[in-house]
Amino acid sequence: MIDWHCHILPALDDGPETLNESLEMARILAFAGFRQVCCTPHCLLGRYDTRPSQVSQAVAMLQGALQRADIPLTLIPGMEYALDEYFPVLLDDPRCLGDSRLLLVEAPRKTPKTLIQENIRRILQRGLIPLLAHPERSPCLYHRSSLWGDLAGLFQKARHDGEDEATAKSFAFVQELKNMGCLFQGNLPSFAGRYGLRIERRTQLFLERGLYRCFGSDGHRAETLKADLAASLPGLRKHL
Ligand SMILES: [Fe+2]
Repeated sequence: MIDWHCHILPALDDGPETLNESLEMARILAFAGFRQVCCTPHCLLGRYDTRPSQVSQAVAMLQGALQRADIPLTLIPGMEYALDEYFPVLLDDPRCLGDSRLLLVEAPRKTPKTLIQENIRRILQRGLIPLLAHPERSPCLYHRSSLWGDLAGLFQKARHDGEDEATAKSFAFVQELKNMGCLFQGNLPSFAGRYGLRIERRTQLFLERGLYRCFGSDGHRAETLKADLAASLPGLRKHL
């Protein structure tokens, strides 16, 4: 089992601050049944200016520590890029997931849809494959983003057992990205309701429609990682 999205490398972004915490996250993943982990620190210009060479060094360092600690986990270098206005510059030296052509990207809050599409197109033109992280929890991909929208969704949930109209509508733009050639990675905590009811329902809908190509913990901290895996993996395994 592969964790396709994890902030396990120490002191690079908002993930673990120390090597010991990285090792604790690795123990939790190995115990849960993972054997490979994509190390995907944020690359967000001005906030987390992570460079591909830093990722390579950190992966080599942590892999050595895993071996010494006898933790059976293979690390795959990667990055999580933001599809913002600075993204085109970063495409000059992209850090794909391992030896693949997959580039893990996320749609930051409030990014215009046109910019997301332009950046996806740039990735494809470069001969790479965009793997969009956690589409279920990126509000800029969907129409409804108001408090009233939240309340309306809850009322609809109370009235219908099946998928409601707003949730179905939310699929439209994601479907456009899929048609362009984008792949999608679901977040395990989304299945466990960590980000709220609306995202949990959207995740179920995407799963039923076969949208997800792969899944990731998006783990940042040992404590939350343990709880998220315990809450999400049994149900997801059953479904798959
Ligand atoms: Fe992430």
